[in-house]
Amino acid sequence: MPVPLLDLSAQYTPIRGEIVKAIESVLDDQQFILGARVEKFEKETALASDSAHAIGCASGSDALLLALMALDIKPGDEVITTPYTFFATGGSIARLSAKAVFVDIDPKTYNIAPDKIEEKITSRTKAIMPVHLFGQCADMDTILEIAKRHNLPVIEDAAQAIGATYKGRKAGSMGTFGCFSFFPSKNLGAAGDAGMVTTQDADLAEKVRILRVHGSKPKYYHHFLGINSRLDSIQAAILSVKLPYLVEWSRLRAENARFYNEQFSGMKDVAVPYIDPNNQSIYNQYVLRVPHRDALIADLRKNGIGCEIYYPVPLHIQPCFSAWNGKNGDFPESEKAALETIALPIYSELTKDQKIAVVETVRNFLSSI
Ligand SMILES: Cc1ncc(COP(=O)(O)O)c(C=O)c1O
Repeated sequence: MPVPLLDLSAQYTPIRGEIVKAIESVLDDQQFILGARVEKFEKETALASDSAHAIGCASGSDALLLALMALDIKPGDEVITTPYTFFATGGSIARLSAKAVFVDIDPKTYNIAPDKIEEKITSRTKAIMPVHLFGQCADMDTILEIAKRHNLPVIEDAAQAIGATYKGRKAGSMGTFGCFSFFPSKNLGAAGDAGMVTTQDADLAEKVRILRVHGSKPKYYHHFLGINSRLDSIQAAILSVKLPYLVEWSRLRAENARFYNEQFSGMKDVAVPYIDPNNQSIYNQYVLRVPHRDALIADLRKNGIGCEIYYPVPLHIQPCFSAWNGKNGDFPESEKAALETIALPIYSELTKDQKIAVVETVRNFLSSI
């Protein structure tokens, strides 16, 4: 039985009527950019992420960039982050000609290892940017304590973690800023690109609001050099329809993860995802660590089972970041994870038969090696 890595149609079909109605309402009143629907979705996201303010923007990548810009990150500044993440985490820092200073990951959670952060802080350090990878929050209390001692802001890259909690606190509510992505494959996905910045600070919220419209307030009066990163009304309207389903969708992902964990935990040399007891993961990805990873991928593909490597090349060895002088061996846990992990289908609508097909294919492969 073929099983795709993600089946967006399975999520869309039951709510098609609501989505089409929402799109039609935008078309009917021809208000396409920002406006009432964006404001409504901003309020809903602020509420859902326990944040005082939420500012819609064009993507998760822009959310990171806007947060850094609001903190006045300048050329030569350093931002501490993880190399084991999606490109945009480092890309947003490089866009401002700042430098990402990488810290290796905890091999169990795949998130930034907090005990290695402090040794990387210099007089040029201007922010810490943990990533809540695969839907599980980084160790925020330790990170926030270090940040407080050094008077540094914290930007949560919560692109993969909307609704995730750490000690009961919501992703995106703990740092100076939270940055969300609504890329279609996220637990809350738009019909295109969309993003959101959250913060508890009214002044910083206002600055992000100004920066996303080319730094102008009022219109045509520019106090800052901003960018064009406005959220479309159609995306906001669709996301407002989907948001009430998010908790249930994430619960179903966690249920799928439990099923997989039970099945995989007896298999030799397979490490199922480790979720820290302080965390509730939303399982944006379900990532196994396995022996013979590349051969397993080939076998899964041959059997029609979707899978992916998140991420095959850690940021410190990406060619476009060569100016930061990273090399193989610098961050061994990130490099090891890039070689040994594989993401399997985890989306909410997976059927029992599909999950069994995934498990059986992995089991057959492992017993054949
Ligand atoms: C960890 C992380 N940061 C940032 C982003 C960027 O979000 P977007 O694709 O919406 O620009 C993503 C999206 O995949 C992500 O996974």
